[in-house]
Amino acid sequence: MQLDLSGRHALVCGASQGIGRASAIELATLGADVTLLARSADALAALAAELPRTHAQQEHRWHAVDMLDTGALQAFAVDLATAHPAQILINNTGGPPGGLAHTADPAAFEAAFRQHLIAGQVLVQALLPGMREAGYGRIVNVISTSVKEPIPGLGVSNAVRAAVAGWAKTLSGELAADGITVNSVLPGYTRTDRLESLLAAQAAASGRSARDMANALVASVPARRFGEPSEVAAVVAFLCTPAAAYVNGVSIPVDGGRTRSLS
Ligand SMILES: NC(=O)c1ccc[n+]([C@@H]2O[C@H](COP(=O)([O-])OP(=O)(O)OC[C@H]3O[C@@H](n4cnc5c(N)ncnc54)[C@H](OP(=O)(O)O)[C@@H]3O)[C@@H](O)[C@H]2O)c1
Repeated sequence: MQLDLSGRHALVCGASQGIGRASAIELATLGADVTLLARSADALAALAAELPRTHAQQEHRWHAVDMLDTGALQAFAVDLATAHPAQILINNTGGPPGGLAHTADPAAFEAAFRQHLIAGQVLVQALLPGMREAGYGRIVNVISTSVKEPIPGLGVSNAVRAAVAGWAKTLSGELAADGITVNSVLPGYTRTDRLESLLAAQAAASGRSARDMANALVASVPARRFGEPSEVAAVVAFLCTPAAAYVNGVSIPVDGGRTRSLS
């Protein structure tokens, strides 16, 4: 199986912690040059120094940018595409705050669409020429199982995730003939700061302890545990390899079997 990513360059967004960080580590382990993006410069600099280097030419970089700032993101992406074209894009960022759909401020929808969908579009448009020139492109979106089964209490998130899934599926058909695949990974309950903050918010709203909330979530997972970021990252990284060339337009849950739907 061809898993080697030596000579490929991956842009990993939301890379300072959690699933993005774990994905950067997996991609570097497979030999890719990795550029890390998030807002926290210190965390990115530390991770860039720590990332595996499997061969002498491998180089890692980082850039602090807020994905809500579309202009800054576009400027960064255009510069990156010029100086260091990337053939791999991991479209990942922080999840929107929880809450009901019908009480959400319309501005929260606008922000979520800017941070998730518009940011992805800006990055794809900037990196596409380089992917086409290489005849190799891998776009992986980290979304959520809510694209298959909307999650109560995550109203804004459910809406924007579905939009990203529809965008990704459409792109996959448009770009396949250029050797570019577009797939999405749908994490289940994964042990990151995002999960901790959602549990704390649910505990505060319900008057129950965060531990009780966590136990209730675990009980809904056939594997009877939360996932680790590295388990989601392994699937992200596989989708970026030559071995995954004929996997396109799919949304893969990595959720310990929690999603109950067949498709
Ligand atoms: N963990 C779960 O159980 C779970 C389940 C389903 C779906 N997901 C989704 O999977 C994705 C990753 O989850 P995670 O658990 O790894 O989240 P996380 O631990 O909160 O990490 C989010 C990452 O995105 C970066 N980020 C946040 N806002 C940003 C912005 N405006 N601009 C640039 N970077 C930004 C953060 O870094 P900075 O703060 O340094 O910017 C961080 O590196 C999220 O969309 C999440 O909702 C997670």
